[in-house]
Amino acid sequence: MCGIVGYIGKQKCIDILFDGLSRLEYRGYDSAGIAVLDGAEIGVVKAEGKLSQLKPLLSELPAGATRGIGHTRWATHGAPNTTNAHPHAHANVALVHNGIIENYLELKKQLTGEGVTFQSETDTEVALHLFVRELGRHKTPFKAIMAMIPQLKGAFSLGILVGNEPDAVYVVKQGSPLVIGAGRNENFFASDAMAIVRHTTRAHFLNDGEVGRITEQGVEIWDFSGNVVAPHFVELDISSASTEKLGFKHFMLKEIHEQPRVFSGMLKRLIDLDSGIPNDDELGLSKLDLSRIDNICMVACGTAYYSALLGKYYLEPAVQLPVNVELASEFRYRQPWLSKNTLFIAVSQSGETADTLATVKQAKEHGCQVLAVCNVKMSSIAREANVTLHMDAGPEIGVASTKAFTAMLLAHYLLSLGLGYKRKTLTISDLKKAAVLLKTLPARMDQAIDGKVAIEQLAAKYDEAANFIFMGRGTSYPIALEGALKLKEISYIHAEGYAGGELKHGPIALIDRHMPVVAIAPQDVYREKMLSNIEEVKARQGRIIAVGDQDDQHLRRLADDFIVCPHIADAGLQAMLSVVCLQLLSYYVAVKRGTDVDQPRNLAKSVTVE
Ligand code: AGP
Repeated sequence: MCGIVGYIGKQKCIDILFDGLSRLEYRGYDSAGIAVLDGAEIGVVKAEGKLSQLKPLLSELPAGATRGIGHTRWATHGAPNTTNAHPHAHANVALVHNGIIENYLELKKQLTGEGVTFQSETDTEVALHLFVRELGRHKTPFKAIMAMIPQLKGAFSLGILVGNEPDAVYVVKQGSPLVIGAGRNENFFASDAMAIVRHTTRAHFLNDGEVGRITEQGVEIWDFSGNVVAPHFVELDISSASTEKLGFKHFMLKEIHEQPRVFSGMLKRLIDLDSGIPNDDELGLSKLDLSRIDNICMVACGTAYYSALLGKYYLEPAVQLPVNVELASEFRYRQPWLSKNTLFIAVSQSGETADTLATVKQAKEHGCQVLAVCNVKMSSIAREANVTLHMDAGPEIGVASTKAFTAMLLAHYLLSLGLGYKRKTLTISDLKKAAVLLKTLPARMDQAIDGKVAIEQLAAKYDEAANFIFMGRGTSYPIALEGALKLKEISYIHAEGYAGGELKHGPIALIDRHMPVVAIAPQDVYREKMLSNIEEVKARQGRIIAVGDQDDQHLRRLADDFIVCPHIADAGLQAMLSVVCLQLLSYYVAVKRGTDVDQPRNLAKSVTVE
């Protein structure tokens, strides 16, 4: 979603800003722009489309400028065109914005009545004109910001350049994330640490309701009431190497390949594989009062939600408590039942998803203990939760989640072992059995990835299909949902995931010889039932692509095409392997169709608006 980057220092800033924006590309955007201050004059360039459209325009900016702001826009209010792109500039002020100003129509009417003419359809331009009006009244940018803030409703993280105060840039944080990076005689800011980590790893994450004045020498912060806030700098541990493709054609393919290594790292940190005893500190369990928990609620969006659906399969039998799983966007607007005895688990790769973040605040208001499962350490959700289980899967750049999804599954699985052991619903012998299988998991995952050549060949047979159905039962059911989501996200083929037993309740009407049906059929307790579901599809001439065990001859005979998935004797862990095959299938179908795999159309990596 929209990205912000800013710089003030002694270096020429255009390349720094452009590089920062290119590191935010993965978040998804549809136009971009940069504004710089040269002396007291502001220069702006903007372009519709990708950064490659903006690049030729950079020469129009004053080359020696040493302070500026940049933005990648994901359209919300108004089409993705050059006029609506940020920065918006007027009266020697330039402004970039992430979020949505909810009362912008009301403010626009008021400002129009005062004689202001708007160029764009955006809510952002309202903030610009409001600021310019308040600057005229209050004279200093700081006072103008403080006068503007109470008039804005919604989410508004801003970066502001003011021609009459060239020694500073201003930031405002409300809703969408903003981080300040401290350098020597230079400072940076961005909506995502990824944009600045190349230059500095000393960062202050602004809290909602803060205003910052950033100069070459330092950073001053105030809350919205004008009280001084001391910045709290932390060390970032994002390796900039993990944001490179390292020879892979796409980040998605690289991230699929990283999964076995991510698993090895997580297993090492989160469980003692010899004794089978989970590491309560790393899982976040030692900071929770488990004695009072009598139910669990898991909330997330998209892929993270599907991981939580699987989490229910892991947790319920292990901890013997009811586990409720919900979409954050629904949960936050109904009146959910929550109690002080609820363990609330928020799952989010980015830790910035607006709907999920809102549910965390809601759960805290109800007195729940909140555990976040996150991949970004200093993210808003991680900071808001009582305790965080860090996945440490490394930065995920491909918009379509792969390694973060499997890391979530492993996190939920280990959480079920840890909680089960604490609650005495699992014995040490249960843990030991699980550990024996867990030890083999990274190697099995490598084996699943080795099947990529065969999957690539198979993808060539199906890249022209208009629709796909994915079906699975038990732990393969959420995998079917995730497989369908992955395919539609990156190949733009319509795909739906169903529980095998549900097909005959409606979707079977769609089956004909043009309908490929991906059947996830491992050798688990559901196998016989899945075979019946496959027969039902075949009887209606549907084309079966089965994902199953190497030596499952029966399944091979039934299937039109077969994807070999390594076997592991635990249905919960098997799901983590099956999904790797589906990631590869989606990837190669998308590559054959020539889509933008890492940045699919209309999608954003982290959805910071509701
Ligand atoms: C995954 O492929 C998607 N791009 C999307 O569904 C994502 O999982 C969802 O937006 C939630 O993101 P989060 O994990 O960062 O909260």
